[in-house]
Amino acid sequence: MRILLLNGPNLGRLGVRQPEIYGRTTLAEVVERARAHAAARDCELADFQSNHEGALIDRLEALDFDAVVINPGALGHTSHALADAIAGVERPAVEVHLSDVRAREPWRRQLVLEQVVIGQVIGRGWPGYLDAIDLLVERRGR
Ligand code: DQA
Repeated sequence: MRILLLNGPNLGRLGVRQPEIYGRTTLAEVVERARAHAAARDCELADFQSNHEGALIDRLEALDFDAVVINPGALGHTSHALADAIAGVERPAVEVHLSDVRAREPWRRQLVLEQVVIGQVIGRGWPGYLDAIDLLVERRGR
């Protein structure tokens, strides 16, 4: 299975950006750990981070993957365009948020990708990305 790991706005600064909320693990370290986790489960992992909604949608439209793990950042609270893109590619997707968005500011409680993903991993820090891969692998096995 080819998994596309997508990260949205501001996640390129993981590890240095508000570490008390998002932790000290960098995005490069997350990708490395996710790639090793995927490889151990016979999966390939491609990764892409962008601060731009359209670039994330363009990456999805490349359709060179079987499943998606996405941390949309703040776009997860607002972007119906990204939700439409995920629905449109017809591949299983799991949404990740490092922090517990349901326990933070009220505007973070709205999760607009909810309807188009097969699962969400919220508030588990960087290991949440590995949990998301496991959800996709479990689904493949069914
Ligand atoms: C985040 C949560 C979002 O509310 C925030 O805008 C982010 C990161 C998370 O991983 O906890 O950029 O997606």
